[in-house]
Amino acid sequence: MKHLISLKDWSAQEILEVLDLADKVKANPQTYRKALKQKTLVMIFEKPSLRTRLSFEIGMTQLGGHAIHYDMSTSPMGGGKETIEDSIKVISRMCNIVMARLFHHEDILKMAEYATIPVINALTDEGHPCQILADLQTIREKKGEFKGLKLAYLGDGYNNVTHSLMQGCTKLGMHISVGSPEEQMPAVEVTEDCMRFAQESGSELVVTDDAVEAIKEADIVYTDSWMSYHIPKTEEAARIKLFTPYQVNAELMKHAKPDAIFMNCLPALRGAEQTAEVIDGPQSVVFDEAENRLHAQKAVMLTLCGAV
Ligand code: CP
Ligand code: NVA
Repeated sequence: MKHLISLKDWSAQEILEVLDLADKVKANPQTYRKALKQKTLVMIFEKPSLRTRLSFEIGMTQLGGHAIHYDMSTSPMGGGKETIEDSIKVISRMCNIVMARLFHHEDILKMAEYATIPVINALTDEGHPCQILADLQTIREKKGEFKGLKLAYLGDGYNNVTHSLMQGCTKLGMHISVGSPEEQMPAVEVTEDCMRFAQESGSELVVTDDAVEAIKEADIVYTDSWMSYHIPKTEEAARIKLFTPYQVNAELMKHAKPDAIFMNCLPALRGAEQTAEVIDGPQSVVFDEAENRLHAQKAVMLTLCGAV
């Protein structure tokens, strides 16, 4: 396991091993305080971030290593003065591990191809695997086991977080139901892969434009921004109209199980993808989810660096 580009590349066993390590790191952080001593992580950002930047940088500090924040907009790579291939070859000569948050998924694939150090996808337009590892850690903390649980995702189906959730759930045997308008269904190739993973793990993947059907009897209700970082502001009005029937509000939550938890990877907009009463209510676990980014990514870095 050299890179973390997409959860589709990881086996259920590999995902579970990282999650087990994430729990250990969370319970006993001191045990790992020198595990990545003298190692350097480069963090390449082409899009904004709060959680991803903090969790990777703090994670590296807590593991005894060092992190460098590298802003694409002020770099030769971002300015078109240097190719991704050359940039990642140079980074590989000096650093031990790299994470990148990029627009185009092909760019992270290219990085992984030319890097001689582990590459972590910290979000592309297509996937957000780090987020989903933290989400899975949170789900197991709150619900115990994965098998047999139903996660309902409501809102933008053609979305990085949705795609990675579909991969993570179907790999681990969780049922997942995506409620999304016809125009914004998940990518066909992701759905096809996940149908296969679901068959292998004995779970069910449902994609529907019916919000009530999607959320019915769910153990976990998940939503994400209607205006992802790469969506132009000009599309906002049309997207609000399109996604409003999928807003997670108290009325829709009534169709989930009474003990369902509510998740959002954040950043969140109250009054858009969910109402304030849901995200600020007793079923919400969004800040546990955010904190687990730190523990889960420390586990990912330890694993990819061969430090465990
Ligand atoms: N959830 C997440 O990745 O948040 P940031 O965009 O703040 O990193
Ligand atoms: N789908 C969102 C996730 C943010 C963490 C985006 O791409 O902006």
